[in-house]
This record gives sequence, C-alpha cells and structure tokens, in this order.
Amino acid sequence: MSTLTSLKEPQFSPHTLNKFATLMAAGNGYLGLRACHEEAYTDQTRGMYLAGFYHRATPSETTELVNLPDVLQMRIELDGEIFTLLSGSIVDYRRELNYANGELVRRLTWLAPNGKRYQINCQRFLSAAQHSLLCSRIAITPLDDSASVTISTGIDATQTNSGRQHLDEISVRVFEQRYLQGCYRTLDGENEVTIASFCAVSPETSNSFFAKNRRLTQHCSASIAKGKTFQLEKTSWISCSRDEGYGAESVLENLINCVKSGYDNLLAESASVWRNYWQRSRVEVISEHSQDQHALDFALYHLFAMTPAHSERCSIAAKGLTGEGYKGHIFWDTEVFLLPFHLMTQPEIARQLLSYRWHNLAGAQAKAQKNGYQGALFPWESAWSGEEETPEFAAINIRTGLRQKVASALAEHHLVADIAWAVDAYYQATLDETFMRERGVTLLLETARFWISRAVEVNGRLELHDVIGPDEYTEHVNNNAYTNYLAYHNVKLALKYGCFDAELKNLAEDFLTRLWLPASDDNQLIEQDDTFFSKPTIDLAKYKTQQGTQAILLDYSRAEVNEMQILKQADVVMLTYMLPWLFTQQQLAANLDYYEPRTIHDSSLSKAIHGVIAARSGRLAQAYQFWQQACLIDLGDDPHSCDDGIHAAATGAIWLGAVQGFAGLTVERGELHLNPHLPQAWRSISFPFVWQGAQVQLRLTSQQISIITTKPLRIVIEGVETEVLHEFVTPVTGSGTTKGECL
Ligand code: BGC
Repeated sequence: MSTLTSLKEPQFSPHTLNKFATLMAAGNGYLGLRACHEEAYTDQTRGMYLAGFYHRATPSETTELVNLPDVLQMRIELDGEIFTLLSGSIVDYRRELNYANGELVRRLTWLAPNGKRYQINCQRFLSAAQHSLLCSRIAITPLDDSASVTISTGIDATQTNSGRQHLDEISVRVFEQRYLQGCYRTLDGENEVTIASFCAVSPETSNSFFAKNRRLTQHCSASIAKGKTFQLEKTSWISCSRDEGYGAESVLENLINCVKSGYDNLLAESASVWRNYWQRSRVEVISEHSQDQHALDFALYHLFAMTPAHSERCSIAAKGLTGEGYKGHIFWDTEVFLLPFHLMTQPEIARQLLSYRWHNLAGAQAKAQKNGYQGALFPWESAWSGEEETPEFAAINIRTGLRQKVASALAEHHLVADIAWAVDAYYQATLDETFMRERGVTLLLETARFWISRAVEVNGRLELHDVIGPDEYTEHVNNNAYTNYLAYHNVKLALKYGCFDAELKNLAEDFLTRLWLPASDDNQLIEQDDTFFSKPTIDLAKYKTQQGTQAILLDYSRAEVNEMQILKQADVVMLTYMLPWLFTQQQLAANLDYYEPRTIHDSSLSKAIHGVIAARSGRLAQAYQFWQQACLIDLGDDPHSCDDGIHAAATGAIWLGAVQGFAGLTVERGELHLNPHLPQAWRSISFPFVWQGAQVQLRLTSQQISIITTKPLRIVIEGVETEVLHEFVTPVTGSGTTKGECL
C-alpha cells in the first residue's frame, strides 16, 4: 500500500475556523470531536458528540445530538499574555491530520505582543482501539527568554447546542488530587454521561482545582527556562449510561489504566486499528491529479470516523459525528450512499446499519398507522427512538416572511423502499440467511405492506400519489418515477424472499401487475412525475454557480420552485443508478442530458451520482468532471462549505464514484458485474472488497483487469460470465453491457 495522504491546513485563518474544525474532526464511530483549537475563539463552534446520545429538551423542539462538555479547551497564559492567534503574530504555522493513524498535529511559533516567541505544539487523537478514550498533548517552549506558563483546563459543561443546554450537572469531583470527574444527565433524566480527565504535567507544577459555574478546572503553573519545554498530556475517558458496565467507578478505573500507558503507547494501539482499516478498504489510484488520491483517503477517513461500528442501535448521522447540522439525524443517506461502502469492505457493519432499522420497526409501524397505512413507514429523519424527527419548519418563505413547512415527513416516502433495496444488496453480497430469517425478511414484508396500502386505483391502474421523490424541490406530486420503480422493486423483493399469507400474496401480485411505472418516451426520457414535463423552465446558470447554498430560495418561494422544472438533486438519474439493469446506455445518456441542466445540485447527494451515470454512459470526461466536483463538496475553497459538519453521504459518494462509476463494479440481481470506465487521467485503480465470503483485490488499468481472490468468484466481466479461481488477468475490451431488461 502506498503512503497515506494527510490533510494540511497551511495557515491559520479566522474565516475557516469552522470549516477546518469539521474537515479535521476526530472520530471513532462512538465519539466525534470537532477539530477546534485548544485556545478559544468566539466564532468557533466547539463540539464533541457521542453516537446515539440524543435529547429533546421540550416537546416543541427537535431531538438533537447532544454537544457534550468540553475537555479539550485550554486557557493558556504565557508571561501574562493570553495565547490567541488573533493577537501578536504567527511566525510559522502548520496543522495536519494524519489519515494513517487519526492524529491531529499543530505546530506553530507565536510572537506574542510582548515581543517574545513561543513554540507551541499540539497533538490529539480519539482512540480507534478504546472508543471512550481521548488523548491530547501540548508542548510549549519559550524561544527567547525564560517564561511563566499557566494552563487552565478541565471539564467544561457550559457547552450547548446553539444555546440549548441539554445536560444537568449531577456531580463533579477531584479524586486523589489529580483525577477530575463530572457526571451529567439529560434534562429528561433518560441518559447519563460521565467524563474523567487527568493531566500529566512536566516539569511538575503546582496544581489547584476549581468547580464553578458548570466548569471543573485545573490550573497548572510553571516557570520554564529558555529552550526548555513545558508539556501537558491530558487523557480523558467518556462513557454513557447506555454502555455496558457503565458506572462512575469504571470510568475512573479505565482512565487510570490508560494514563499508565501514556500518549505514545495509546496512539500506537489506536494506529494498529487504523492500519487494519486501511488494509481492508483503501482505494488507490494512480492519477495525473494528486488530489484524487487525497479525496479518496479523506472520504475513507471520515467513513471510519462517522460509523458507530460498536452498536446496532445507532446509525450514521447526515453529518456523522462532526457537527450539529441536521441535529445528528439519520436519513436515506445511510442505506443508499454509505452502506454500499461497508457492504463491500466490512459487511457486518452493513448488517448493523440494517439492524438499526429493524430495532426501530415499531416506530415505523406506528407512523404508518397514524397516517392511515399498513406495514412500516420509516421516518424521514430518525434518531434514537425510531420516531419521526423531521423538524416542522425550514427556511423563511421570501413572499410571506414566515418559516416554510418541511413536507418530507409527510410525503418523502421513498426511504421505505431504499431500506428494502439495501436489505437485498446486503443479502446478495453476503448470502447471510440468518439475518434474512431473523430481520431482513421482516423488513421486506413490512415495507412492502406499506406500499401496497399506499397505492390508489385510477382507471384500473395503481398509482402513488402525493409523494416527494429524491428531488426535494418538487413536492406533492403523483407517480414520481423513482418512488414508483423502487416501491415495485420493494414489493417484488418481499415476494421473492418472504412468505406472505394468501391474501397479501394476491395483493402483492396485483400491485406488481397494476402499479404504474412511467416508461420512456420516444426520446428515451422518463418523466419525473405526472406533471413534470408540462412545467416551465428557467435559466438556472446563476443558481448552479452557487450550488449547495439553496440560493434559489432567496429569489423564489418553495411553492414557486415547485411549479418549475427545477431539481435540487438527481431524481430520474438516481433511479437509473439504483436499478441499473433496467436501463440501456442510451436511456442513461438521454435522461442525464435532459435532467442535469435542470438540476442545481443543491444537495451534496447529487454530483457523484451524475458522475456514475456519465461513466456508465461511456462519457468518461464528463464523469470525471462530476466526480472531481463531488470531491470538492467539503474539500473545496468555499470557507463555509461544511461549517456545521461533514457531508457524510458525499464521502460515501466519493467511494461510489470511484468503485461503481470508474471501476464499474456493481451488484445486479445477485451477480457481480465489472465494466471498467477509467478516466483518462487515471493510470490505475486498485482496491480490496469482499463478496460472498471471498476477499478480493482488484486492479484495473485502461488495458487490463487483474483479480486476486481467496475463493472462487463468479463475475460478469464486460458482459461475459467469468469464473475467477485464484489469480486472474484479462484485457479490457470496452465491450458489452446488457441492459434494458424487464423488472
Ligand atoms: C437532501 C436529502 C438528504 C438530506 C440529508 C437534503 O438536503 O435533499 O436527500 O437526505 O439533505 O443529507
């Protein structure tokens, strides 16, 4: 494996504080920690989040992922000057997130207003080996004179979610004059979190402790000779009442054990987990553009950091564990954009993500019933309980000045079929009968029951009315093609895997016979919904240049946007992505050409999927352009592009674009297909994946396909069914995709 890349912040800027706090966030799937600086900045959103640790403060508010007490912040005083990069000047500065081991390192030289220079080095990581463990280290060296150094740090529970305090302080205490501990409970009394911290300081200093105003603080002061280093190593253990063996004593015990090991050993232990991860999943490309490899490493770093692999009661939030955007809620993003990566690298995580839905089935059944349907209607946004968590209101309506209602909870139902789609993908890739028997089939049957009950009869055919497809700029339409096709697929899967009683079986068969599936017209186009083609178009150039910002809603109300051919994100294009065997290359290209000019790409879920479809249409230059643009969603120059957290689905989509788009590795009705479409700038792509128990390493160049597998593998290579035994090499022919089959 070639050396992993890293993310570098070459200079300090107050304008990009929050962007880099997101990009460089630490995470191990249990905890996420924004990459805020040790010293405080007013405009910086500090944050530490624990997967599944949600709270709803009042019935009128939305459940949100709680921003935990801050253990990272330090008040640093050097010869009486408070250290901040907004005063004095910065002689040199470099911050780097090392993807290989998850460590964030900052090295800088500060010229204080008093005219003296100080070298300050900071390091930190969240352990990938012990998920409750956070380690940080700061080293300060006065360069021009001896210095007095004072650091105040501890556990700061004044932290809020944008002003909303979710935690009550239950107790704070200092044990043995060295270990700090704070216990906090959510206001509803449901959950607790306990945090213990210890600071190892060298040289030894005089310490004092204070508990005041929700802060438990330790002060350390020392006199340091010129050229000598003051070092503070802070170890923290964070655990919540949902953890096995949780208790204030065990938190302290665990902390003490870690303190004995020290920063370097703990980092080495964590690095070995990261090493395994990279071996199992890294995608390597040899490209003319070095940023391509970087984008892939960045995406996979965050895919690890955001995924709660420790628990099937949690799933992946739309912003991972890096910020408060979307309140930490879970969307279809998980099943469609994130699960495929896990399925092909660590399928047990895909199973857990599906199990999260299975555990929340009761909430989905209750929602269906409340809305007059049967089966399971999964909430558009969900958190811990499985109830609908979509907030009632969004942006201001520019015509009325009032906040506009969010309709997704009422009508964006395609998520139900997306979950079924993911269950099928999981079974195909793993043949896991146990999961299907115990959970998967139930998910398929209950979701199918929902669709059957949701259809209405119009002139003898069944239709799905008043829905929102993936394109959220087009609401309350009838027969959104994506929704109808996916619902059909859902019911078909239920019949294939499940066992309906006779009456439901008849209903399911009838649904499949009579559900209206919008077909292609003479130009190969599929209409997005019943009325889409009849709506006017406008020039979207202005909004496309500001994509991702929803700038159109500053000029038009949602109701007005709804009456025009304007897409927020891929919709019919998304459909052709989801069920690839149904569409010919001609259809892919025609729909791409029609819908893309009408799509603003205001959702981060859009660009990479367009890239995959362009690649499958054989348009490599266009595909590469889409993919590169998709890679910039978080990594681009816009200083605020990800202030409130990473675009989790977009990181999954970077992987999808490379693996499913360019490498052309897809799963189609139980078969593995390979149709490479490498962009011209790429000399090769190679990556590992697992398929039905086989560990496979694939390497592609524009001329050659090389496969190494631990078990015999059946794979359809450029349309030819092939048996791969152990090692296999074949030329790329650029031929044959058999598509456009019946459902
Ligand atoms: C998109 C949805 C997506 C959500 C969370 C919205 O802007 O339109 O498709 O699920 O963001 O990422």
